[in-house]
Amino acid sequence: MTKIVDLHCHILPYVDDGALRTEESEELLDMLYRQGVRILCATPHLRKGMFETPDGEIQVQFDELRMRAAQYEERMLLFLSREYHCDDLFRERLNAGNVLCFGRGRTVLIEFSYHHTYEAILSWIDDVQARGYCPLIAHVERYPALSGSLEKVSTLIQKGAKIQMNAGSILGREGFRQSMWSKRLLKEGLVHVVASDSHDPENRPPELDACFHFLRKKVGDAYAMALLRENPVQILTTIEGDSPLCKQSV
Ligand SMILES: [Fe+2]
Repeated sequence: MTKIVDLHCHILPYVDDGALRTEESEELLDMLYRQGVRILCATPHLRKGMFETPDGEIQVQFDELRMRAAQYEERMLLFLSREYHCDDLFRERLNAGNVLCFGRGRTVLIEFSYHHTYEAILSWIDDVQARGYCPLIAHVERYPALSGSLEKVSTLIQKGAKIQMNAGSILGREGFRQSMWSKRLLKEGLVHVVASDSHDPENRPPELDACFHFLRKKVGDAYAMALLRENPVQILTTIEGDSPLCKQSV
């Protein structure tokens, strides 16, 4: 079984709109393990007025989940980061240099709302980079400001952003249009990471094994491996966040 990396999931309980209880969190962990995930990064939301759980509380939940993961037969490595909504609270964190990056690197997961304009997205990319971080844009396929424009997504990449896409979108769980748009971006090689963004075992479960299978057929083994393993590993281990971007490596 191919060892998959999941850089984006809401597996920690009691901290955002992800897993509701410890049991649900453990069930998600079991599902991810069965799907071949051996490196996992928990990314609880930070969003002003909605999800403001302090890093310390999140760390407590993370430590418990890590103990649970240690019980598996094969080693499963867990990391802790966050999904930062681009708002005033994130700006405060950026200014204070208080940002949880992926692993040892400088890459940070950021998300936008449906209301962010393209210009606002460009400006945030500049701001994140100016503070010395490399932005990984969460579920790029969702944003109306980018939808349908390969040129806009290319521009973000040229500026140094990395691009994450949700497995569920590729598999059609978010509707036909989003699935078609996701496939266009993949065909053009404008995606660096595919992740689960799983929230719970029933409504938003991880489907990484199915997605990996699909991607191998659709875009070939090499790119599928880059999306679900090689690029995420590089993001977790590269100290400099600004390595060149291409189809098969970040
Ligand atoms: Fe998310």
